[in-house]
Amino acid sequence: MGRDTLSVVDNRTGSSYELPIEHGCIRATDLGKIKVDDQDVGLRSYDPASGNTAACKSRITYIDGDAGVLRYRGYDIEELAERSSYLEVAYLIVKGELPTASHFAMWRHNIKMHTLVHENVKRFVEGFRYDAHPMGLLVGTVGALSTFYPEAKNIHDEESRRMQTRRLVGKIPTIAAMAYRHSRGLPFVLPDNELSYSGNFLSMLFKMTELKYRPDPVLEHALDLLFILHADHEQNCSSTAARVVGSSLADPYSVVAAAAAALSGPRHGGANEDVVRMLREIGSVDEIPALIKEVKSGERRLMGFGHRVYKNYDPRARIIKQLAYQVFEVTGKNPIIDVALELERIALEDDYFHSRRLYPNVDFYSGIIYEAMGFPLEMFPVLFAIARTSGWVAQWAEMLQDEEQRIVRPRQIYLGAAERRYVPLDQRPEVGPLEFELRGPL
Ligand code: ACO
Repeated sequence: MGRDTLSVVDNRTGSSYELPIEHGCIRATDLGKIKVDDQDVGLRSYDPASGNTAACKSRITYIDGDAGVLRYRGYDIEELAERSSYLEVAYLIVKGELPTASHFAMWRHNIKMHTLVHENVKRFVEGFRYDAHPMGLLVGTVGALSTFYPEAKNIHDEESRRMQTRRLVGKIPTIAAMAYRHSRGLPFVLPDNELSYSGNFLSMLFKMTELKYRPDPVLEHALDLLFILHADHEQNCSSTAARVVGSSLADPYSVVAAAAAALSGPRHGGANEDVVRMLREIGSVDEIPALIKEVKSGERRLMGFGHRVYKNYDPRARIIKQLAYQVFEVTGKNPIIDVALELERIALEDDYFHSRRLYPNVDFYSGIIYEAMGFPLEMFPVLFAIARTSGWVAQWAEMLQDEEQRIVRPRQIYLGAAERRYVPLDQRPEVGPLEFELRGPL
């Protein structure tokens, strides 16, 4: 028996097997060797929602969920938050190392070369209804970019990958800002490449008739910091979507659109919208016990709490909580912060949350800051998507260069009907009530 092996005895046959253990994992395909007889397809593992399955080897982001540690390419999130900028972190995530001064200058230049979008994209955005959720608009528009750059399908060409990466990182704030301006009936604002990545985004959002928009430095820094904190988070739902869609060798715009669609759900990037809705609904600290009661009875979830990986305080939530007060110095205090703080205090003392190791996640405080900065709720997941684009493209490129990766194609346990014969329509007995649909809005 080797030290780094798992010995398995199959009680059905009495056979024993030695499965190698590497990086704390056995290979699920090794289970396939465990068979009752030659006709058997072999043992498979069942892991709905991939709770205990590593789907890839990655060098991008490290999380220790028990200790509350997050690192991009080996650098602690706290240090990056304090000392870096989003564009530098995006470089680090995409390319693997922090840039030298000249490489960083070139990266910034290259991203800025791509902040404009084709005029047809503008017309495309205008086709959405005025009340279209900006996340739906973003998903649709990013997906549509693949039709503007057909060469993007050359995914094995490194230069093409670099070009689409710059385009995506460069254009996503422009499309996000267009989504916001469209919902407000405001004219689109051209990018201002003299400003920083976050400053330019604020300009494209909030510039009115002034000749030059000058972002408030505190808000510009706060947004940049929020982008750093959201840039990557290893194999989360949306990055997994990026890898799965990318595994079919789809182009990177389709990949990022799919990832953004995954992000939009309330269990993922849509949670920050729901946190603010929940805090507004609570309204005052007196109402918190009633909410906690509903949560504990399983009627609803405490939004912004809990995480599949963190079983400790999410380090990003800690940084964001401190940032909130810097932002309030400029914007005035968002009164729902008091409700949030008290809710956190009560929840962390409660055995329900304690025993399940439910702590505030990144989204518990981010929405409060976004709201104070003047963003409507619907824009919150869009802000998340801007930041996460660098993570998605890095995960996608890593997947493409990993020789072990193939098209993702999980197995299933079939529990449906056994083989049966087709019965002609007029011979089938009636079952259940009929579903009649009245014509709704077109
Ligand atoms: N409020 C109340 N109870 C919760 C919460 C919550 N927010 N989260 C988990 N639980 C409970 C579950 O009811 C379950 O209890 P049980 O064992 O008695 O059935 C237990 O904790 C485990 O929950 P799971 O759903 O199995 O945990 P999972 O890892 O699948 O879910 C998730 C993680 C989706 C983040 C979950 O905690 C949740 O829904 N949180 C609220 C939404 C949210 O904030 N999402 C943002 C995540 S961070 C991000 O995407 C950037």
